[in-house]
Amino acid sequence: MGFRKDFLWGGATAANQYEGGYLEGGRGLATSDAIRGGNVNTPRKYTIMTKEGEVMELGREESLPEGAKGYIIPGIYYPSHQAVDFYHRYKEDIALCAEMGLKCFRLSISWTRIFPRGDEEEPNEEGLKFYDDVFDEMLKYGIEPVVTIMHFDTPMYLADNLDGWHSRKLIDYYVRYCDVIFRRYKDKVKYWMTFNEINILRSWMQLGIHSTAPQVRYQADHNIFVASAKAVQLGHSINPDFQIGMMVAYGPFYPLTCNPDDVMESIKKNREKEFFMDVQVRGYYPEYQMKWFERNGVKIEMEEGDLEEIAKGTVDYIGFSYYMSNTSSADPNAAKIGGNQVFGGKNPYLKASDWGWQIDPMGLRISLSQIYDRYHKPMFIVENGLGAADKVEEDGSVHDQYRIDYMRDHVRAMKDAVDLDGVDLMGYCPWGHIDLVSAGTGEMKKRYGFVFVDRYDDGTGDFSRRRKDSFFWYKKCCESNGEDID
Ligand code: BG6
Repeated sequence: MGFRKDFLWGGATAANQYEGGYLEGGRGLATSDAIRGGNVNTPRKYTIMTKEGEVMELGREESLPEGAKGYIIPGIYYPSHQAVDFYHRYKEDIALCAEMGLKCFRLSISWTRIFPRGDEEEPNEEGLKFYDDVFDEMLKYGIEPVVTIMHFDTPMYLADNLDGWHSRKLIDYYVRYCDVIFRRYKDKVKYWMTFNEINILRSWMQLGIHSTAPQVRYQADHNIFVASAKAVQLGHSINPDFQIGMMVAYGPFYPLTCNPDDVMESIKKNREKEFFMDVQVRGYYPEYQMKWFERNGVKIEMEEGDLEEIAKGTVDYIGFSYYMSNTSSADPNAAKIGGNQVFGGKNPYLKASDWGWQIDPMGLRISLSQIYDRYHKPMFIVENGLGAADKVEEDGSVHDQYRIDYMRDHVRAMKDAVDLDGVDLMGYCPWGHIDLVSAGTGEMKKRYGFVFVDRYDDGTGDFSRRRKDSFFWYKKCCESNGEDID
């Protein structure tokens, strides 16, 4: 009983929110570099220049005017540029992780550190060397790197010149990028994920696409499916021991009531995630999605061989983020609540975080069971956690009991999924175990970490790190393989 002996207790980050050093080491620009900060009431905007030379700010759901390109306004604070400076502080951060007893560390590689424009023939050695150093440092402590190959940062050059993932050309550029990193790190990295939260990618910010129309979004998704499937096959041919997973943002949509219409709504909402798992885990487009395409006038252009690639390139495990659950209702006036890049219905039985994300540990067990029952693949929770505004006391301590409570309840739910439901769970990587920039709001104020980073929303702070109370709780949890959590 309990978690497997080789259970991967870890933490999770992404280059665009954590790494900084955005112009160092020959790195090129990514779409994520042009996204400004926001807050819970003010959504983040990205900055572009129109072909007439006008600078504009657009929101996630807006399309770009024709011919517009990403543009960084000089003198303006963009949170990703320095983020929390892992680029210069990786040794300190990894040492803190070793002290916490972490067995793995999830990070993403910044594509534009390796291929600054995205379309070059040869990679940037300085970028490759940086990750060599990072992985070596992790391995020195016996910490296993878990690598996301793309986490919300399409190369800006490919966005500007090819309409990002709307273009099939990105398949080849991405596969070349994978080829380089797979070969270079084949003896250092075993666990990979091809795309972060594949089911919520839908804008210029993440995909470099200029239109948010479903036709464009789903064509980009198709290109991503093919790219991912090719990468999985390539990775296995380079090192058969590679474990290459998909990554989905998961959170169940419960029917708001037992009214069958609400139940049907919840089925439809859950399919929005299942579609991506069906393609990447089962290896084919499901019927309900083909019907949806038909009804909505979406025609996916496929080349001969695409479906075979997708069928051959299924993943080894399912990585997913879990923060919250939602409700679905057939009543368009049912109360709504915010969340992880998707909006859902309010649940009267649940409390929410200060950012309106409903807290539901049982929802994690439900998610694990639902996904495992459907696919019977090993599962990996690669994000989970509580975004909260922490306070540093005069003596420098941070008393984040609310975070400890949240994490403990979720670890218990995981344990139930393993012990009572028989789920094959590989590991658990709480999100932002070292404070980092929020993806949704661009804030530093919304902190997830066990380690506090001295960095604030006005761009001030000296980046120093301090251990929160949750650091000591998580250390006990990791060192006891999830047994000592009370
Ligand atoms: C997921 C992402 O959406 O949730 C992360 O993979 C993100 O990049 C995390 O940071 C938490 O969301 P937020 O908006 O609180 O940063």
